[in-house]
Amino acid sequence: MTTPSLAVPDLTDPVTHLAPGGLDEVWSELRQNDPVHWHPGTDDTPGFWVLTRHADVSKVLRDSARFTSERGNVLTTMLQGGDSGAGSMLAVTDGPHHTALRNLLLKAFSPRALDGVVRQVRETTRRLVDEAVERGHCDFARDIASYVPLATICDLLAVPRSDRDTVLGLTKSALASDYADPQAGEDRLARGELLLYFHELVAHRRAHPGDDVISLMATEPAGTVTLDDDAIVLNCYSLIMGGDETSRLAMIGAVRELAHDPEQWLSLKDGTATAQQATDEVLRWTTPTLHFGRVATEDVELHGQTIAEGDLVTLWLCAANQDETVFGDPEVFRLARTPNKHLSLGYGPHFCLGAYLGRAEITAMLDALRDRVARIEQTGDERRIYSNFLTGMSSLPVSLTPA
Ligand code: HEM
Repeated sequence: MTTPSLAVPDLTDPVTHLAPGGLDEVWSELRQNDPVHWHPGTDDTPGFWVLTRHADVSKVLRDSARFTSERGNVLTTMLQGGDSGAGSMLAVTDGPHHTALRNLLLKAFSPRALDGVVRQVRETTRRLVDEAVERGHCDFARDIASYVPLATICDLLAVPRSDRDTVLGLTKSALASDYADPQAGEDRLARGELLLYFHELVAHRRAHPGDDVISLMATEPAGTVTLDDDAIVLNCYSLIMGGDETSRLAMIGAVRELAHDPEQWLSLKDGTATAQQATDEVLRWTTPTLHFGRVATEDVELHGQTIAEGDLVTLWLCAANQDETVFGDPEVFRLARTPNKHLSLGYGPHFCLGAYLGRAEITAMLDALRDRVARIEQTGDERRIYSNFLTGMSSLPVSLTPA
């Protein structure tokens, strides 16, 4: 293993991920010459390992015994010393309780259970695309993509219609990734308000259960554990955070790419690429979550390096999805790509719970565009989001010519 010839920028800094031209060269260098890279810490925060090869990222994601999520699964919380939802919130829980909680939630996330929800997703997406086509132009991020995923989670949680705009506003502020200079403390305030809101909703569902996900958690045990209000609220919060921005960013990224790549747009229009293939390539290409993280529970040797017990390990899905040993011409956006073993939805025991739903949302959007739109043109500058965890755009002005 040689030392990388390229300086690795500060991966904790959101600005790094906005670099013009992206970090492709850095990831390529790391994959080839320093696949287990040590990222130094600061006076206040620890250093962490950076893994970039598809095989290594998959291996760690699969091994929740030696690489736990219980001390956080994203860089920011890991650097702060852990996640307050550990052991309660699905994504940051391991072992038998994770399995039991996941099995409980899967009752609401199986393709059969989601049948009605997915039908609604298709209808809403088609309506929004039709309206945009009629106007001739839209901000695809604001007018279409920001609406569908959150409305869908709200359907799953049965959030009353009258509260939905408030929930959307709070979700956006809680992540605070739209702007480089979020108002101080705004994100924490919004998170607090969201949690409070869901506490009230849980209390209401305990008294009046329905057939939504909150009622499921409130009335059925996870294995032998009855979930308390805090646990239910944390999991609602996590469904909103997990399912809203990710799908939204994938859809916006797809539209930007299709506006600039007539050949791929044609391959979608003429059916050379099926909607399913196209959905997976959109996921690989956009990789909305740049990384996930784990903490080592014992010493582990990897490519001659020792990852010590307690070390933070970051898994860069964006780098793994460009691994040339797995993907032919990884730098090319090819909707008909097959096979496509991207890691955008994770892998192993924490594989995305909402994978079927997220895919259905992207497919619905591609279907609607294919059927209703002849040409997509970008009509103004896009705005990129500011984050070391999520990547994509919060604004994308386009014109849509009717088919
Ligand atoms: C297409 C967009 C989506 C992407 C790119 C995405 C990505 C991911 C990834 C990479 C993971 C693994 C995290 C880890 O290993 O630590 C994950 C887990 C998860 N996702 Fe998604 N997700 C998407 C859509 C959704 C939706 C729509 C929902 C729910 C409504 C959702 C809810 C979750 C939950 C609850 C987990 C934790 C699963 C577990 O720990 O067992 N995601 N997601």
